[in-house]
Formats: sequence, structure tokens, C-alpha cells
Amino acid sequence: MSDKIQTLSGYIYEYQKSVQDPEGFWARIADSFYWRKRWDKVLDWDFEKPEIKWFLNAQLNITENLLERHLFTLGDKPAIVWEPNDPNEPGVTLTYKQLHQKVCQFANVLLAQGIKKGDRVIIYMPMVPEAAIAMLACARVGAVHSVVFAGFSASALADRIVDCQAKMVLTADGNFRGKKTIPVKEVVDEALKKADTIHKVIVLQRTGTTVTMQEGRDLWWHDTIENMSFDHSAESMDAEDMLFILYTSGSTGKPKGVVHTCAGYMVYSQYSFQNVFQYTTDDVYWCTADIGWITGHSYIVYGPLLAGATTLMFEGVPTFPDAGRFWAIVDKYKVNQFYTAPTAIRALQAYGNAPLEPYGLDSLKVIGSVGEPINEEAWHWYHDHVGKGKCPIVDTWWQTETGGILISPLAGITPTKPSYATLPLPGVQLVIVDNDGRELMGNSVEGNLCVKFPWPSMLRTTYGDHERCRSTYFSVYEGMYFTGDGVKRDEDGYYRILGRVDDVINVSGHRMGTAEVENAINEHPKVVESAVVGYPHDIKGQGIHAFVICDMEGRSEASLVTEIKETVTKIIGPIAKPDKIQIVPGLPKTRSGKIMRRILRKVAEGDTTNLGDTSTLLNPEVVEVIKKDAIDLI
Ligand code: PRX
Repeated sequence: MSDKIQTLSGYIYEYQKSVQDPEGFWARIADSFYWRKRWDKVLDWDFEKPEIKWFLNAQLNITENLLERHLFTLGDKPAIVWEPNDPNEPGVTLTYKQLHQKVCQFANVLLAQGIKKGDRVIIYMPMVPEAAIAMLACARVGAVHSVVFAGFSASALADRIVDCQAKMVLTADGNFRGKKTIPVKEVVDEALKKADTIHKVIVLQRTGTTVTMQEGRDLWWHDTIENMSFDHSAESMDAEDMLFILYTSGSTGKPKGVVHTCAGYMVYSQYSFQNVFQYTTDDVYWCTADIGWITGHSYIVYGPLLAGATTLMFEGVPTFPDAGRFWAIVDKYKVNQFYTAPTAIRALQAYGNAPLEPYGLDSLKVIGSVGEPINEEAWHWYHDHVGKGKCPIVDTWWQTETGGILISPLAGITPTKPSYATLPLPGVQLVIVDNDGRELMGNSVEGNLCVKFPWPSMLRTTYGDHERCRSTYFSVYEGMYFTGDGVKRDEDGYYRILGRVDDVINVSGHRMGTAEVENAINEHPKVVESAVVGYPHDIKGQGIHAFVICDMEGRSEASLVTEIKETVTKIIGPIAKPDKIQIVPGLPKTRSGKIMRRILRKVAEGDTTNLGDTSTLLNPEVVEVIKKDAIDLI
């Protein structure tokens, strides 16, 4: 762990080094990894195309770096500690040695079932150790995993399978979530009616839910591993071979498959983990995310395990059996670093301080936040009541596309400020531009957040559609990666993320394209047109307000609202279900037919007195009706 920064002046020194000589800087960091063949060149890049290559022609396998590299020194140390949904069920601890065996064993299963280097494998699983084993076994044989959050619907799952032409699905019979048991395999069966590239489905028995196994296609996990050898020699991968695809939403079209590659992702996920959380040898680290999201990839599985850490995985939800569950787990395992999302903090804050009282939380050293802006009130509650005023908060800003944390305090080193992600990590060269792409220099400026130099874990492409990657991220502002976020740099040079500046909304830390939700709403046969906007929501950060024009013949408003919600749940999943559906006679449009979302956003925010000039609209009269009806929904 020699690459761990220990002081503020150390951070400043490292940051300067990383800008003056990025290649030298990253070569030094990369030196501590195990390479089958060293790189010929550290970096080649061209943001116009875009083409980004790190550690050119190096050969490696990421799993050798998180398993074999640690076996001698950390073999008996817990790698994964798993806490089940039901607190009365015993947990599972896997040491590095045991994890190595299980990953090798499942790698052999994948090979036996016909998976080859480069094949895509979908992982649609609950939060169980086997989900991490599945990811690592894919990486070990060189297959590209694409984890799909197990709350997504059959239709969303099918879209992802088809887009990446996956050959295999790894899943479970069911998923325990609080009091509920969700029939996961049933969703896979439904998805596979629309996706015919899948040869094999391997099903983990978790809940005992009855499932239908299709002869010749479906296999039980426990049968496949029976008598399977623990010996497996990892596939040698090129630095720029694909490691995984993770689908995420954008402002247009269907979710896109963000592609991350082996070497750069490996180096950056470990480096950022060590530095942001300041993990030390015997710490227990816990990130509450789901492996279906990038946070689960980089900071439950890859980053911590690469760093030889003990990473805790939790199957359940924060409020089961009661709102003290997170705190019970912290005390039970003596968690030292705790990393969660503002939406969970706000939801737990709403229960008051009583659920915290039975717990000491003395082990905590660092508490983190990710996924959405954390408001000052939640920041203070988290700081005072969870961190007991003694734990630094790391408010970490990053994205699926960035692969790792780009802006964050280094715990205990960078002075924090409520609701500020503070400063960029070494190697991250941020730029703020105005809407015309002019760089805003100096402090006390506000604009669009871009990055002007590559960092190792940045996305390389969007699967099957490189042009989409170029036009979304690299052409909005010339020569820069555009994040889609608005940002402020204050008088001290500290960064505060202001939220998305595009048509992406962030609901409970889940990223969603408004167009994606609209497309789902429009699938309802009675819907003529719809427009979706986000509005401030006390717990979720943003809620979804849908304005919908419907053919009302023979239907009540109430039944349509229910049916539209069901349609969205079926097409995307419950996370995209609108909070408010307002049936409207029309949508405010410009003379060229474009929906004036600015007006809809104001109405959804409840700010109907300040709509700006509506006289140039094609249909100004519609605004009055929408304004009036919106009041009933609030
Ligand atoms: O708007 C930013 C917000 O989440 C977006 C990225 O979402 P996703 O790719 O799903 O990844 C989430 C987990 C890394 C960003 O464009 N976001 C993420 N972290 C923060 C944040 N907004 C404010 N503060 C953060 N710490």
C-alpha cells in the first residue's frame, strides 16, 4: 500500500506530479501490480475519435491481482464477509484462499459450459457472495460480464441481453428483499422469450422458490460445481481487452453499454479505493450499494479486493427488520469504513435518532456518500449521528463512465465542507466550461463539468455503437470528456456538484433518462404523448413527474394512472415508476414542436408564478390548465 497518500501536502505533491508527468505517475502506481507482461507505453489517446489506451500491450489478469497476489500474505484474511437479509440466518465469510478456490472452481464451470474469452455473460443475481464469484470467474476466463440490477424488469433485462448478444445468464431462484421474496428466475424466463442468444442459464438456489428448469438450457449452480476442480490458470488478457459492460441511462434512447477494460480499471479502482477511504490492514469496509451498479463493481468487488481489504456484502434493505439494521451490522462486524447513498441517509434520518440509540458505532472511522448530491441537512445528520462528529465524510463524485471516484476528499486528509465533493483525485484534470465551451478559469465559477485529460478507468466505448460514445461524451465540448453534470468551484477551489444539466434524472441515486421513462409510458395503448421531468423530493433527491396526454374514452383518470404506473414497472422496473402522473390536455410546445421542458420542470417544482415568457408558445393556453391541475397533485 505504498501508494497511499498520508498528508494534505502529500496530496498536493502527488496531484502536481500527476499533471506534470501523467505517464510517469501512473507507471509508478501500476508497478505494484502483477503483470504477465509489462506495457510498452503507458498511454495513447485521442479524445476526437475517441481512442484511449492505457498500459499498451501489457498482459495481465485482474483476478490474479486480487487473488494470487494476496494469497501468500493474506490467504487467511477474510476477503468477503456476507450478511444475509434475515439477521437470524448465519452469515458467510470467505477468506482470500477460499475465494480463490471458489472463483477457480466457477471459472472451470464457465469453460465446461462453453464460455470462451470475449463471450458476454449476464449476471442477474441477488447480493450474495456467488454474485461476486460470478463476476470474478468471468474475469478469470476472459469473459465479459454485464451485471444487470436484479430489480430491472424482464423487458429491460431482455434489451441488455440482446444488445450485448450474451451467451449465458447467471441467476438465482429468488431474491430476499426485506419481507419480500422476488422470483428472479421467473423474470429471466420471461426475458428469454425475447432474447434468443442465450445457450445456458445457471441458477443458484437461494430462496427455495419453485422454478421451472428448461431441459438442456438451465442448470443448478450446485450441480455445476460438484466435483469441479479448484485448479484454474487465469487467461492472459491484453490491457485493453474488455473487462465488463455496464448499462446506464442517458438523455436519449435506450440505456447504453459502458465498456471498461482490464488494466486501467484495475489500477484506478485500487488506487482510488486506498486513497479515498484510507483503508488500513485490518479494517472492515462496507459499501451498501448493489453489484448491479458501478459502485458495487468498483467499491464492493474490484477496488477493495485488489487492495487486499475485507469487504462486507449485505443482501437486504436498510429498514428490515427495522430502521436500525445498518447500525446493527456496523456494530456486529465492527465496520471501519461505511459507504452509502444520500437517499438511504435521508430515509433513515426520517426515522429520527431512536433506531441509532442501541448501537455504539465506535468502530467507524470513515463514512462515505455517493450517487447524488448530499444536501447539507443530511450531511450534518450523517456527520453528527452516524459519524458521532469524529468521522470524516467522503462525498465521492463519479459516474458509471468514470469507473472510479474522480472528486472526493481523501479521508482525514482533505478538509471537508458540507455538500462539497471537494477536490479531484491525482490524475484527474477537471475543467469547467460555459455553454459555449469556453473554459471558466479561476475560482468562484459555475458551469459544465468536463475532464480534459484521460484517467486510467475511463470508459473506452459504448458497446456496439462507438459513435454514440463519441457524440454523447466527446463532441459536446471539443477535446474534452463531458460529464453531463453542472458544478460550482468556490472561492477555495472546492467542487460542489449541482446535478445533471441534461435530460437525465437521479431518483434515489438511480440514474434514469427522461426519454427512457417517456418511451415506457408511451407503450400504454391509451397514451398519446408524454413528458417526464424530475422534481425535488425529500427522500429520493428527485421524484418523477409525468405529464401525459391520454385518449380518455371509456376510462377514468384514476385507472389510467394506475395502469401507466404498471406499464413503466413492467418495461423498466419499479425504480422508474412515476411518483406523480398528471393527465393533461396538451404539452407546452415551441412553434417548431419541441416540448418546453423548462416550463414543465417549474410546474413540477410547484413554482408556477415564475414560468417566464410563454407567449411565444404554440399553445400558451395549455400552460394555464397544467398549472391549475398540478396544484391538486402536490
Ligand atoms: O449526477 C451525478 C450523480 O450521479 C451521476 C452518475 O450516476 P451513475 O453513473 O449511476 O453512478 C452513480 C455512482 C457513481 C453523476 O453524473 N452523482 C454521483 N455521485 C455524486 C453525484 N452527484 C453529486 N454528488 C455526488 N457525490
